[in-house]
Amino acid sequence: MKKVTKAVFPVAGLGTRFLPATKANPKEMLPIIDKPLIQYAVEEAIEAGITDMIFIIGRNKRAIPDHFDMAYELETELELNGKTELLKIVQNIIPKHINCIYLRQAQALGLGHAVKMAQPVVNDEPFAVLLADDLLDAQVSVIKQMVDVYQAHQCSVLGVQNVPREQTKSYGIVATNPIDARLEQVTAIVEKPKPENAPSTLGVVGRYILTPRIFHYLDQIQPGAGGEIQLTDAISALLAEEKILAYRYDGVRYDCGSKQGYLEATIRLGLRHPECGSNLKALMEKIVNEEKFS
Ligand code: G1P
Repeated sequence: MKKVTKAVFPVAGLGTRFLPATKANPKEMLPIIDKPLIQYAVEEAIEAGITDMIFIIGRNKRAIPDHFDMAYELETELELNGKTELLKIVQNIIPKHINCIYLRQAQALGLGHAVKMAQPVVNDEPFAVLLADDLLDAQVSVIKQMVDVYQAHQCSVLGVQNVPREQTKSYGIVATNPIDARLEQVTAIVEKPKPENAPSTLGVVGRYILTPRIFHYLDQIQPGAGGEIQLTDAISALLAEEKILAYRYDGVRYDCGSKQGYLEATIRLGLRHPECGSNLKALMEKIVNEEKFS
């Protein structure tokens, strides 16, 4: 039985919803308090026992390799100034046993195209895909929950949640037959259907465990929704050959690709932050009162 040891992070998107902040910086480097989104996703994968992090990067994404690399000047400076706590934070961004692999996607042709680029590294193993702008806050890392499902069932697993019907056009939507409270067997999947055409309101979030057979279909599919090579279309083709499960994860998703989700994540995680949590609560109460009475 093959273990899931590799995770693919497609990070080559343009991040247009956050311009101008994302003009020169990748959207995955936007911070929630003091950690960039990509670090939350990598930590989620590490918790699942994944050791090889494969980043599919594009232009303007140098900040991502830099973030996970050593920073000699900064580290020397912190050491010289006796700032050991900060030095520890910088040095512990990623444990020593983790491998970071960077593949460059010259053209942003879609999520399916980005995932296909990982094939030479993934080979014939099952692997995880994490979209870092979906921040999943959970007691047990969501991708770990999904790796556990993979291990029990030996098939691809899609992280899903219920979405409002008017939002189906932002998601891959699955049709399913229920198995238990959290698991469903996928019978169909369609990328970004209009609400009136959506087979359900169960939307795929940015977490996948895929069998390597997906590469075969990623090779064959034509551009789909938005003219892009869609991962969803390859998953749909894979369904004809392999069982695929949808998993209602235990956790809360913040869509940090949208301004509202990003702000909500900042507030929620900020309220729990050891350094600024209690001050933030007081500050929010003050602001709410001022706004109410002004
Ligand atoms: C991508 C996928 C979509 C999925 C979504 C989750 O869309 O194509 O199927 O539901 O991520 O966030 P994107 O948000 O990149 O347009």
